[in-house]
Amino acid sequence: MSSAIGAALDRVDGRLKVTGQATYAAEFAVKGLTHAALVPSRIARGRITQLDTSAAESAPGVLGVMTHRNAARIPRLKSVVSEQGAAVQTVLPLQNDLIRYAGQPVAVVVAETYEQAQYAAELVRVQYEAQPPRTRLEQYAHEAYPHQPMLGIVSDYSRGDPPRALSEADVCLEQTYTTPIEHHNPMEPHATIAAWDATGRLAVYDTTQGVHLTRQGLAEALGLPIDKVRVVCPFVGGGFGAKNVVWPYTILTAFAARHLGRPVKLALTRAQMFTSAGYRSQTHQELKVGARRDGTLTAIVHHAIAIGSEIGEFPETAPEVTKILYACPNVETSVRLVRLDIGAPSNMRAPGEAPGSFALESALDELAAALPVDPIELRLRNYAEADPDTGMPWSSKALRASYEQGAERFAWAQRNPAPQSMRDGGLLVGWGMATASYPSYGFPAAATAVIRADGSAIVRCGTADLGTGQYTVMTQIASDALGLEPEHVVVQLGDTEQPFSLGASGSSSVRSVGPAVRLATEDARNRVVHLALEDQASPLFGYSADAIAVERGDLFVRHEPARRESYVAILARHGLGQVTGTGNVDLVSTPAQHRVNAFGAQFVEVRVDPDFGLVRIHRALGVFDIGRVINRKTARSQAIGGMVFGIGMALLEHTQIHPQFGKAISPDLAGYLLPVHADVPAIDAAFIEVEDPYVNSLGAKGAGEIAVTGMAAAIANAVYHATGRRIRNLPITNQALL
Ligand code: MOS
Repeated sequence: MSSAIGAALDRVDGRLKVTGQATYAAEFAVKGLTHAALVPSRIARGRITQLDTSAAESAPGVLGVMTHRNAARIPRLKSVVSEQGAAVQTVLPLQNDLIRYAGQPVAVVVAETYEQAQYAAELVRVQYEAQPPRTRLEQYAHEAYPHQPMLGIVSDYSRGDPPRALSEADVCLEQTYTTPIEHHNPMEPHATIAAWDATGRLAVYDTTQGVHLTRQGLAEALGLPIDKVRVVCPFVGGGFGAKNVVWPYTILTAFAARHLGRPVKLALTRAQMFTSAGYRSQTHQELKVGARRDGTLTAIVHHAIAIGSEIGEFPETAPEVTKILYACPNVETSVRLVRLDIGAPSNMRAPGEAPGSFALESALDELAAALPVDPIELRLRNYAEADPDTGMPWSSKALRASYEQGAERFAWAQRNPAPQSMRDGGLLVGWGMATASYPSYGFPAAATAVIRADGSAIVRCGTADLGTGQYTVMTQIASDALGLEPEHVVVQLGDTEQPFSLGASGSSSVRSVGPAVRLATEDARNRVVHLALEDQASPLFGYSADAIAVERGDLFVRHEPARRESYVAILARHGLGQVTGTGNVDLVSTPAQHRVNAFGAQFVEVRVDPDFGLVRIHRALGVFDIGRVINRKTARSQAIGGMVFGIGMALLEHTQIHPQFGKAISPDLAGYLLPVHADVPAIDAAFIEVEDPYVNSLGAKGAGEIAVTGMAAAIANAVYHATGRRIRNLPITNQALL
């Protein structure tokens, strides 16, 4: 059977996107649409003392102004972290006169046009009684508290006897690493259109990574049965974690639409993206690493402090990676949160693992330099053959091969280990590496597959393609199971009318939705197979189902390929317009006999200008074990994209919060630096493909976030190698190097 899986199929939605036919949330044409604008709080903590909406209400085109005085009461939402809810920010705005973060909406103005709404929003007069906001993690670290369990992760962890192992270690290293607040900043800003019909049903177009989760949050907030809410989002212009829970702006839009009896659109500005949809928490991470002379790790202690808030929480679980990455018998980790007044942090681009790997993989590099031993050799000496946390076997692990292939492709053997030893003219050259690691999450997912009378198929699942290629890889999976060419398979995503998926987050789609699509398409195929086997008029009559294979729209007897019949002929003879199959995967409740984790090895060459402290990436390589690769092209794009995030994290991205005013100092893409093409020269990614018989029916662990994880440390390690300067605080700026 020809296999669509593994091919480098072009994006099936590529043409729609480049021709502008892909419709994003803000672009849906809804009859009678009105436009909303937010009035953001100018203070970060305190209360509203006076609120005058009269000028705004009498401005041209204004239909209404919603404030805490007239808005509906919304109970605290259930948390996605600890209560299987849909929200990170569980406390909503417009509920009372309290201000808990700068930019908190204090009013929503709705007008006939966008410009009228914007103008009237400026006319809302608000006076505040301001209190000094808590903005600095260090200042309140003494108030840090444990977090609620998240996906089984608790605040404190220990195995063995770390204090004793540290006291007996030949070599001991103790350092603090920090990472800053970062904002997701997808290209597509968030937007919602909400429209109620006469029967009290709500339809919402929202930019979301998970239509079903957004629906759940809306139904909860509005006090509606879930089937009264429909959420539609066929295309997403990048999510990065910002769009995988329901945020207040979406709920407020639905309320405004109900309040006014008109459909309402709210499109956030870029500046509002810094106050409306979470951020990656700042972290302070203390590491203590103990080892024997030969580099064998004997103890790792990894304590992290991150941001909490009064309005909702997402713990940045930085030390997770430390529990599993190396075969170290004595490990202690903890995460503590500090309540600040800067909004709720959320998950962003490999949450936990990205900042945690920066700390751990920097510390390993420091240990390698101190011993000294080659950084790859150090990692091989501590290679975890089984999961050191649970003792369970890995479902698959090709990390050793990733190191080996990466080292060979990068020509690592030519590296002079001494810092400041390699130069190119006046520039310092540094080579660094780090391990990449990210768990492979299995989330509940279901799909349907419909084989139609014309021999084409439609596959549906209520999840999202964030731009990563999900439409394309699901087309391939369906195409293989159905024996249809990819152009005869249509995949439909992003609508709550489709079967449930938790959504596209945690690099879970290929692992979770993939098997659901496979089951649904196999089910549909098998139904048609059985129609033929039981039908005397079919050339397949009387054969067993095992004997039947599919290709190019035909069913045939594997050992007698001339005995064949098409889907079209079988459906026609039975007078069927279509045959439907279903697939349901509940991986969360699947008993785990194996630990599932993706791995990789990342290599970076930097050039540092010693006069200006300027760091440029010269080349970067990642070699990854993500199990089976469903699409070589989209997987490689994801890996490269993840590495670009890592470049941003290491060198550029940093949201600075004003210490007195509690707001982002430069909430725009001029002040928030993201990598651009000039920052990303030769970058390459490769995969070690191994059979993973345990992860799922596809053998695919999931890609995407894994490629973010090792990158920041690999860059910091390369900067150390170039300059002899160890930078432990991200981002690495030229000020730090001078
Ligand atoms: Mo991801 S940061 O779980 O969208």
